[in-house]
Amino acid sequence: MSGADVRIEGSAAAVAKAALADLPLRADLAGRRAYGAPQLDVAVRLNTNENPYPPPPALVADIASRVAEVAAGLNRYPDRDAMELRTALAGYLGHGLTAASTWAANGSNEILQQLLQTFGGPGRSALGFEPSYSMHPLISQVTATRWIAAARSSDFSLDAAQAAAAVSAHQPDVVFLTSPNNPTGSATPIEVIEAVCAAAPGMVIVDEAYAEFARDQSATALSLLPRYPRLVVVRTMSKAFALAGARLGYMAATPAVVEAVYLVRLPYHLSAITQAVALAALQHSGELLASVAAIRTERDALVASLRGIGLAAGESDTNFVLFGRFADRRAVWQALLDRGVLIRETGPSGWLRVSVGTPAETATFLSEMKQITDGGAATVLR
Ligand SMILES: Cc1ncc(COP(=O)(O)O)c(C=O)c1O
Repeated sequence: MSGADVRIEGSAAAVAKAALADLPLRADLAGRRAYGAPQLDVAVRLNTNENPYPPPPALVADIASRVAEVAAGLNRYPDRDAMELRTALAGYLGHGLTAASTWAANGSNEILQQLLQTFGGPGRSALGFEPSYSMHPLISQVTATRWIAAARSSDFSLDAAQAAAAVSAHQPDVVFLTSPNNPTGSATPIEVIEAVCAAAPGMVIVDEAYAEFARDQSATALSLLPRYPRLVVVRTMSKAFALAGARLGYMAATPAVVEAVYLVRLPYHLSAITQAVALAALQHSGELLASVAAIRTERDALVASLRGIGLAAGESDTNFVLFGRFADRRAVWQALLDRGVLIRETGPSGWLRVSVGTPAETATFLSEMKQITDGGAATVLR
């Protein structure tokens, strides 16, 4: 989107917003703002934690041929239960999972929404440890689930006793843990997840959108599933699998949880095309995960380079890095955008988040960032 397009769209949105006040909107939605990470047409886009590498040509060819096959049958509804895909997802995850203990939807955000429609709702509450993924409170709110923001330590870590105490105090119907966490980047220790599972009166959702990027690959909550029947592990193909545009998220839980989600899912929610694309990607998981290893190496180098230019940057188990701290982070975000680099203004005040790009994109970001700090355009807080 160009600058002019942004302005036109902005004024159209202002008119639509004014008209919104005349609609019989649900009272609890009044005054709310829609999710809106900017989608701007700039040279270097490092703001939504996408995989910077496009799907490899062999996968693109495989997707094209599978989609062509499926296209010939699009007069029929897709497999409502996506059994072939769920079997393949269970095979990818391992841990003894089967199609019955796996479920898929249009992105992991839809999985989260289905879980809250099933286990949250009016009169119920969901708790998360902030800062964390901004969609957890947002999806809670739109499903009329009361949001409870629990705190992390000042270094954004979470320990088992602190987490269990918050859960015991609030008795939420749903607890969210994000591991590795967005936007802070760090993995949640398995003993914290276990302590939360032991203390929680209701469901525990572990959002593992970035699991494949973690330094310790054994630290997944999947290993806890046999012991905690109210635990749900949510994953996505948007990040490691470089498939954000296809919209495929999934979860692993006991078969009873999957049966419960059937109560709220829309019939035929997952198109035959999406199922075919995801199946093709799973067949190429080896190649796709090779790019994850490269991104992990580039991420660690990015952390070191940010520190090298005098900034604070946390260790990361994801494909992004939280860095700062700035007296005016908005000004830094804008200065980068003016130089053609889009990152994300999110998380705790003073911090910014940058996704790991290709080596060339990351180099551009770092050199622009260095010029901004060296040129005195940003006050760095120590
Ligand atoms: C922690 C976390 N969970 C879930 C998602 C949603 O991913 P998707 O709906 O593309 O699967 C994201 C996206 O950035 C995320 O950061």
